[in-house]
Amino acid sequence: MSRNATPLTGRIALVTGGSRGVGRAIATRLAADGAAVAVNYRRDAGAAEEVVAGIAAEGGTAVAYRASVDDEAAVGAMVQRIRADLGPVDLLVSNAGTASRGTPIADTEEQEYLRLLRVHTLGPLALIRALLPGLRAAARGDVIVMSSAIVETTPAGGAAYTMAKAAMETAARTLAHEERPHGVRVNIVAPGLVATDMGERLVAASGAPAIADLDARYPFGRVARPEDVAGVVAFLASADADYLTAQRILVDGGGPDVPIVAVPGR
Ligand SMILES: NC(=O)c1ccc[n+]([C@@H]2O[C@H](COP(=O)([O-])OP(=O)(O)OC[C@H]3O[C@@H](n4cnc5c(N)ncnc54)[C@H](OP(=O)(O)O)[C@@H]3O)[C@@H](O)[C@H]2O)c1
Repeated sequence: MSRNATPLTGRIALVTGGSRGVGRAIATRLAADGAAVAVNYRRDAGAAEEVVAGIAAEGGTAVAYRASVDDEAAVGAMVQRIRADLGPVDLLVSNAGTASRGTPIADTEEQEYLRLLRVHTLGPLALIRALLPGLRAAARGDVIVMSSAIVETTPAGGAAYTMAKAAMETAARTLAHEERPHGVRVNIVAPGLVATDMGERLVAASGAPAIADLDARYPFGRVARPEDVAGVVAFLASADADYLTAQRILVDGGGPDVPIVAVPGR
């Protein structure tokens, strides 16, 4: 029997931060697997439209939606627009994110913690609340949360970012247990360093060379590419992962032999 080439046909995905980096690869992969994809972005409309055009050129379905995930009103309006355009979302990839300023706790004020919590935790939770009726009503609902390997390495200077990621991981595991009776799977993907704009900034802030120069020092001869993360997300959304929930998958090639990126500064 041949395998289904488009295993996500009929599903409606929302990828936050789907216009660049990891989110772009995820949106492109989910569309290639047959899902209709809502590509969320914050500022860079050109990048989002490029992703949508790339998906359409391959015969897929995608629409771009502007909303900052830390703006509950904008997120609510986006959810309504997606429902009208594509239908109710049954697959959320909560991926949008920004780095912290990279200051030590001694020099970090409350406002910085709150800024990161809004983007990585409170905003995504408001989005999930808005989507839950549709996720529950679907034959299968999925929430996939993009975290970071940094949650266990807790490097100096990263508290605001790391705390926000850790808080969202805790919320995701709780949500997994709460929503299991409704058929909603909730899983966490935690990449190490990924070759994206954010990845390049993290590397530059830690004083290390550019990612291209780091490849040889990383597992399998390369820093992770966005497609490495997208493949894991596609698996989690697929029927092959039907019996998985409350799981966290590290996508770090087993970890670098020498930790290179220390500080999630921007
Ligand atoms: N790169 C790494 O090394 C790494 C490692 C572990 C985890 N992660 C996590 O992976 C996720 C993606 O990171 P990335 O490296 O792909 O970042 P990136 O290259 O900087 O891209 C970020 C994406 O998120 C969007 N975005 C940022 N803030 C947003 C907001 N408030 N609302 C809506 N969209 C927003 C951006 O859209 P605009 O361009 O329109 O602003 C862009 O599409 C993040 O959650 C990050 O924390 C990254």
